[in-house]
Amino acid sequence: MDAITLLHQRSSMGKLVEPAPTAEQMETLYQAALRAPDHKELRPWRFIEFVGEGRERLGELFAEADFQEDPNTDDATLDAARKKPLRAPMVIAVIAKVTPDLPKVPKMEQVISAGCAAHGILLAAHALGLGAMWRSGKYAFDPVVRKGLRLSEEDEVVAFIYLGQLGGRHKPLPEHAIDDFVERWH
Ligand SMILES: Cc1cc2nc3c(=O)[nH]c(=O)nc-3n(C[C@H](O)[C@H](O)[C@H](O)COP(=O)(O)O)c2cc1C
Repeated sequence: MDAITLLHQRSSMGKLVEPAPTAEQMETLYQAALRAPDHKELRPWRFIEFVGEGRERLGELFAEADFQEDPNTDDATLDAARKKPLRAPMVIAVIAKVTPDLPKVPKMEQVISAGCAAHGILLAAHALGLGAMWRSGKYAFDPVVRKGLRLSEEDEVVAFIYLGQLGGRHKPLPEHAIDDFVERWH
């Protein structure tokens, strides 16, 4: 697949099945992430890979987040939270590792960089024929989850990227009219 076709046709896949990407495929995905634009070369990112029982540990954090938010949360809801990371063979948390108080590289730029890294993972996954889905949801912002993933105060969870083999067909690509989004100051 040539680069422009990839950029035009990347698509998310929510239905993801075993097996998880191989170590070689993950090397390709991370190298794509690490080519994200990066002001002052801060490398403002951390990636945590959850596979096998690691996904269950992440699910426990999600359930604990619900419980701490409301100790009366019923068991079915806690169980649903526990199972969320099991929707794919692998989940990667992309974390913006923010250096605070840099006048030339404010936090927003560092978070954008980490977002670009997440996009690099999605693009590389698509190029390799893997399925991928960027999710955030309330757990990305939850204090229990943040603590469990060892975020510092300024850090942000930018993405939980769910990864695996395609479990269905890609949805048709939407068509966009460029003029709806572009102003031209020529
Ligand atoms: C920052 C961010 C967070 C997202 N969080 C979710 C999410 O929690 N749940 C979800 O269904 N889609 C989420 N999405 C959207 C999907 O990843 C996906 O982009 C969307 O379904 C459109 O599909 P496409 O990527 O194939 O165009 C998120 C996207 C971004 C950029």
